[in-house]
Amino acid sequence: MTAYHFYTASSLDGFLADPDDNLGWLLSRHFDEKGPMNIPDFQATTGANVMGATTYEWLLANGGDAPWPYEVPTFVFTHRELPLVDGDIRFVSGAPAEHRGVIESAAGDRDVWVLGGGALAAAFADDGMLDELTVTFAPVLLGAGRPLFGGARELRLIEHAVNGEFLAGRYAVLGPREA
Ligand SMILES: NC(=O)c1ccc[n+]([C@@H]2O[C@H](COP(=O)([O-])OP(=O)(O)OC[C@H]3O[C@@H](n4cnc5c(N)ncnc54)[C@H](OP(=O)(O)O)[C@@H]3O)[C@@H](O)[C@H]2O)c1
Repeated sequence: MTAYHFYTASSLDGFLADPDDNLGWLLSRHFDEKGPMNIPDFQATTGANVMGATTYEWLLANGGDAPWPYEVPTFVFTHRELPLVDGDIRFVSGAPAEHRGVIESAAGDRDVWVLGGGALAAAFADDGMLDELTVTFAPVLLGAGRPLFGGARELRLIEHAVNGEFLAGRYAVLGPREA
């Protein structure tokens, strides 16, 4: 069965980006690509990506002349007509469950990387399409920005590690949080 995995970096106070969608606080820090819980090892387990429009626009705005960074199909959730670059990019909108069949067929026998943002990841969880959450926490408090997650959930810690300047945790996503 296809597993959905939200793998992301965050500030310690739970923001994926600062209020201006700036990631300088993240990209300036040391993370060992061969160290524990690294991105290449994770990426090798995934056969499709999903992301929201702001994340897609950030990638286009900050990619420079580099080609689109992902080889696997990427589903971009948006209500708008966004610029299309060279790559396997598919624009969709609405509830994640409406697209479950095509996403899982695109992923083949591998898992799905939910890249963010937080509200989209929560929509996947609400539709029963979020199995794991991995967060690499940067040593910074941003105070404000784009939230890590858009709802309340119970989690269970599966794995933890220190990688460079980052504290990493992998969690199973459980049911909605009881008050
Ligand atoms: N720290 C990290 O590792 C990391 C990881 C991922 C992202 N980021 C950054 O974090 C920020 C995330 O931005 P964000 O919070 O705005 O989240 P986002 O998910 O990237 O974008 C949200 C937008 O996606 C569209 N969208 C979301 N769900 C939809 C749905 N079900 N149907 C149709 N459209 C939908 C909407 O845009 P429209 O209605 O305008 O189309 C919505 O405003 C970005 O700056 C990104 O670069 C950081």
